[in-house]
Amino acid sequence: MEAERVQNIASTFEDTIPEAFIRSEHEQPAITTVHGVNLDVPVIDVSDPDEEKITRLIADASREWGMFQIVNHGIPSEVISKLQSVGRAFFELPQVEKELYAKPPGAKSIEGYGTFLQKEVEGKKGWVDHLFHRIWPPPAINYRFWPKNPPLYREANEEYVKYLHGVVDKLFKSLSLDLGLEEHELKEAVGGDEMTYLLKINYYPPCPRPDLALGVVAHTDMCSITILLPNDIQGLQACRDGQWYCVKYIPNALVIHIGDQIKILSNGKYKSVFHRTTVTKDKTRMSWPVFLEPPPDLAVGPHPKLVNEKNPPKYKTKKYGDYCYCKLNKIPQ
Ligand code: OGA
Ligand code: NI
Repeated sequence: MEAERVQNIASTFEDTIPEAFIRSEHEQPAITTVHGVNLDVPVIDVSDPDEEKITRLIADASREWGMFQIVNHGIPSEVISKLQSVGRAFFELPQVEKELYAKPPGAKSIEGYGTFLQKEVEGKKGWVDHLFHRIWPPPAINYRFWPKNPPLYREANEEYVKYLHGVVDKLFKSLSLDLGLEEHELKEAVGGDEMTYLLKINYYPPCPRPDLALGVVAHTDMCSITILLPNDIQGLQACRDGQWYCVKYIPNALVIHIGDQIKILSNGKYKSVFHRTTVTKDKTRMSWPVFLEPPPDLAVGPHPKLVNEKNPPKYKTKKYGDYCYCKLNKIPQ
């Protein structure tokens, strides 16, 4: 039987949405969003020749917000629009074709096309479908989950990764230096060359009741760092002092989220940002986060150089795979 996809549900409902998508009052975006204010998350021009300044801005934003946007990051706009156009073309394929890439039932890996990732409280569902596949390093890639259609899908993704390395290295370097570590130390701590880049495409179809539904429910990312590329439809929100605000869409910017593993490694000096997404009535929103993940068997904990008697570890050291298992199943860490 074909799984129920939000994209199909969206095309059959006009004024209402199924009960399972209606959030409780403490989550409904119409009630819980601070309207008319965009959150001032820092926007950092990473092409500035003053490297020390960039390092400081990145680290300050990570301590204060756990989130920032970067511009002039060196990824050509053609590379970005090609990645977006092949991703969109995949989601516009007939349903049977998309289902060829469905995550096999019971599969351990997260890779594949799917819906409803998390076991949510109260059994509620998010208004979003997704496709997950790894894009780096080559031994971690399973092309079985890379769409063959559109034909340029692979090329577009490979080009994007090629440019992404520069961004990844800059981020890790800045975050390391500002903690007084050597520039390679944080990346090493999350797997070095074995760290994987996991791409997710979020597809948020138009929703008849955007006031009642959410796309992705409130969460922090489990990985080390997330590099997210949105399309031009507003929808990302971040939490600040217990309230939800929209994060302004900036053309060609990349949104950076500090994830749980960097919070843990820094022993709490950097924050992991609490965020969620809203949907709109008549537009399809899409986003392309790349999650930078440690290998599942690698143990991650507060960096040994950052803890001592005065600064005891605030978090457990545990294997990344176990961390994810607990988080996804809502088991305390
Ligand atoms: C996510 C996420 C945000 C967005 O998929 O983890 O937070 O803008 N997405 O789609
Ligand atoms: Ni996220």
